[in-house]
Amino acid sequence: MQGLTRPDLKQIYERGLRDFETARTLAELEDLRVRYLGRKAELTNLLRSIPELPQQERPEVGRFGNLVKRELEQALESARKDLEQAELAKGLEKDRVDVTLPGRPWPLGHLHLIEQTRREIEDIFVGLGYDVVQGPEIETDYHNFEALNHPEDHPARSLHDTFFVDETILLRTHTSPVQVRVMEQQPPPLYLIAPGKTYRRDSDATHTPMFHQVEGLVVDRGVTLADLKGTLDTFAKKMFGEERQIRLRPHYFPFTEPSVEVDVSCMACNGQGCRLCKRSGWLEILGAGMVDPNVFGFVGIDPEEYSGFAFGMGVERIAMLKYGVTDLRLFYENDLRFLRQF
Ligand code: PHE
Repeated sequence: MQGLTRPDLKQIYERGLRDFETARTLAELEDLRVRYLGRKAELTNLLRSIPELPQQERPEVGRFGNLVKRELEQALESARKDLEQAELAKGLEKDRVDVTLPGRPWPLGHLHLIEQTRREIEDIFVGLGYDVVQGPEIETDYHNFEALNHPEDHPARSLHDTFFVDETILLRTHTSPVQVRVMEQQPPPLYLIAPGKTYRRDSDATHTPMFHQVEGLVVDRGVTLADLKGTLDTFAKKMFGEERQIRLRPHYFPFTEPSVEVDVSCMACNGQGCRLCKRSGWLEILGAGMVDPNVFGFVGIDPEEYSGFAFGMGVERIAMLKYGVTDLRLFYENDLRFLRQF
């Protein structure tokens, strides 16, 4: 290469600086490095040709050429640092999480209203010192009917009302057989509730083939109807509000004597009379009574020594009254618009 001059070098230097500055990516910059400082670059070739220059020009061109090379290397290095910074910043910006944005709500399930209500009932009686027990849903005719003093021809025993598995096995029609099972196995004193599923051959706006009951049983010395009334009054106030009152109406159940139906003063009108309570001011919430001595006879408890009371309530009915649900079937249709309200 002939005629290498300072102006040639100067031109390379100025072009290089400009190009390094305008490079937009590290890849572009690498291309420029190869072009200006690589083994086949113009500058490299020029420097390599110095020995061919006239003797007196060599020191001057050599010094200046090396200066240009160093300067270009430094400019390249600083351009590389700038680009690296910029690419890092761009990456961070892209992956940025704005922690001040509101979070996405995570849908959370909750207990079904029937289960919630069952637990509310349970909590009240557990608070009064009652035990919670369970019995089988597939029962014997003996526990569901016979030991509960149902006469042979009692209507509940008919195919019309009861799901029979065979002659002597059936789906329990109430939770009362748990009374019998516990009394068979445990001596008094007994203070217990028995929540669970029950089955009857019924299906309309106010009946479903499966529903839930909570049974209550107390057997001890000197238990009276006043104890039953006081207990249920406490329950009604805790469940439906302190202003609530209860009343007992005479009724009939085969396994209690006397038997009562228990009403609570209407929570919609505070007992004044409205559509919900059909103008009566009262709503029926459960059946109850004093344990019939005949039942004690079946389980071997001495009715001279012990007395007791029992009650049974429908969980669906309690939930409907407490939460203003007007159609029983809503509980079993799994419509989330209904379920999510509770
Ligand atoms: N087992 C009765 C029913 O299902 C309710 C009840 C329970 C009544 C305990 C009295 C005592 O209707």
